[in-house]
Amino acid sequence: MPKPLPIIIDTDPGQDDAVAILLALASPELEVLGITAVAGNVALALTEINARKICELAGRPDIKVYSGAIRPMVRNLVTAENVHGKTGLDGPVLPEPTMKLQARHGVDFLIETLMSRDAGTVTLCALGPLTNIGLALVREPRIASRIAQIVAMGGGFFEGGNVTPAAEFNIYVDPHAARLVFEAGIPITLIPLDCTHQALTTAARIEKFRALPNRAGPATAAMLDFYERFDVQKYGTDGGPLHDPCVIAWLLKPDLFKGRHVNVAIECQSELTMGMTVIDWWRVTDRAPNATVLRDIDAQGFFDLLAERLARLP
Ligand code: BDR
Ligand code: CA
Repeated sequence: MPKPLPIIIDTDPGQDDAVAILLALASPELEVLGITAVAGNVALALTEINARKICELAGRPDIKVYSGAIRPMVRNLVTAENVHGKTGLDGPVLPEPTMKLQARHGVDFLIETLMSRDAGTVTLCALGPLTNIGLALVREPRIASRIAQIVAMGGGFFEGGNVTPAAEFNIYVDPHAARLVFEAGIPITLIPLDCTHQALTTAARIEKFRALPNRAGPATAAMLDFYERFDVQKYGTDGGPLHDPCVIAWLLKPDLFKGRHVNVAIECQSELTMGMTVIDWWRVTDRAPNATVLRDIDAQGFFDLLAERLARLP
């Protein structure tokens, strides 16, 4: 088997972040160098605890979890308790973590890891607002040429936004950080709502997780039961979109997805469209492509992969 791909997961768990972390920890193709928490779905004090809870659920208390940015770069923090519940991880009852939070700041960990490892080897998986990565770029611009790639869940174009008509949550929360990241010349794969809104947690899919003869499967089902209720009501769909695990699934099975290499620009000025990802899908400008934007997913293939991997956890 080839050497596992070194990744850092930057995240604001969040039930869908949690499933992404479980998928990564269940996959031998990936080596999780660390997890950096960021403020987003809920406050930082909760996202870092949630990240540790999930590592322990996966039987991996050895994973290093760091606390990162407590708020976005410029704007005030906007959270999403309406979707994820008061804790950010409402649904299952998970024990308080016993593993310790790392003492170093998450942004320092990002910079030190990227500067000490061989250039072009470390992949960043961005599952929340891009504040930590934006701050790392400001502190140490040389990391831009050392990041192998960023795979980020965020944005939406044909599908519009989910927090305003124009903007998706992760980009809306910290559009200034997102703009820095998209203008840094780093290879980026962006997984927007256009793609994740096809990956619906139908009852049959959740039941498959619940039936797994381990701890992680039923806990995932309990998380998704809670998580999907908001979107089911909002969109009237059979199940809610399982956004963040798409990032990890793309690393494991890119053939599940289809997209285009195009230009993505981030709106940071108009209050009306703040945080909009302006995606030049039809290549009608001369702005250079800076990201591969995924628009389609084989949803059943994605959920089959998830079930197969979650089955490997304790
Ligand atoms: C994104 O926002 C968060 O609520 C989810 O965890 C996901 O990262 C979807 O817009
Ligand atoms: Ca997230």
